[in-house]
Amino acid sequence: MEAPAELLACERCGLSGSRTRVVVGSGPDEPELLVIGEAPGRTEDEGGLPFIGRSGQLLFTLIGEVMGLTRDRCYVTNVVKCRPPGNRTPTREEVGACRPWLRWQFEHVSPRAVLTLGLVAGQSVLGFSVAMGAMHGRLVTVAGRPGLGTYHPAAALRQGPSLVQVMRADLATLREAMDA
Ligand code: URA
Repeated sequence: MEAPAELLACERCGLSGSRTRVVVGSGPDEPELLVIGEAPGRTEDEGGLPFIGRSGQLLFTLIGEVMGLTRDRCYVTNVVKCRPPGNRTPTREEVGACRPWLRWQFEHVSPRAVLTLGLVAGQSVLGFSVAMGAMHGRLVTVAGRPGLGTYHPAAALRQGPSLVQVMRADLATLREAMDA
């Protein structure tokens, strides 16, 4: 799926002034899993692809071990397509400004299941208004498919094995729903 020229040149919010590249997303049009993170970090801003830094390494190790899926069977993107300076959390306005691009991806990508990472993605894609501790691991239906939110792998890198265990359990729940 080719990104629209308007997306690659997007200036719908102030992040366009500081980004190196728009990080659209990558993966097949009919993936097993649509993986949605928060926003590109420094490595992604420079490389132009989502989750190619340390968070991505942990994420795809877990998805491989628990769900039996390789990265090439996932379409990977973020709620916000440009890096917020200093990796701050994107604002509500930035999330809103970027929403048409995520909507475009939902129209063109046909996954079997949807996985969100962290609070911003869980709230804006799955519609949760509760904190991470209450939303993670809960199955919902998104665009007619099983959807589930788990913690952001960057949080697991900070907090260590206990949060990795929680992520494993969450991913197993989504795998079960896909197999049901
Ligand atoms: N964190 C995210 O939320 N997305 C990326 O692409 C990289 C790190």
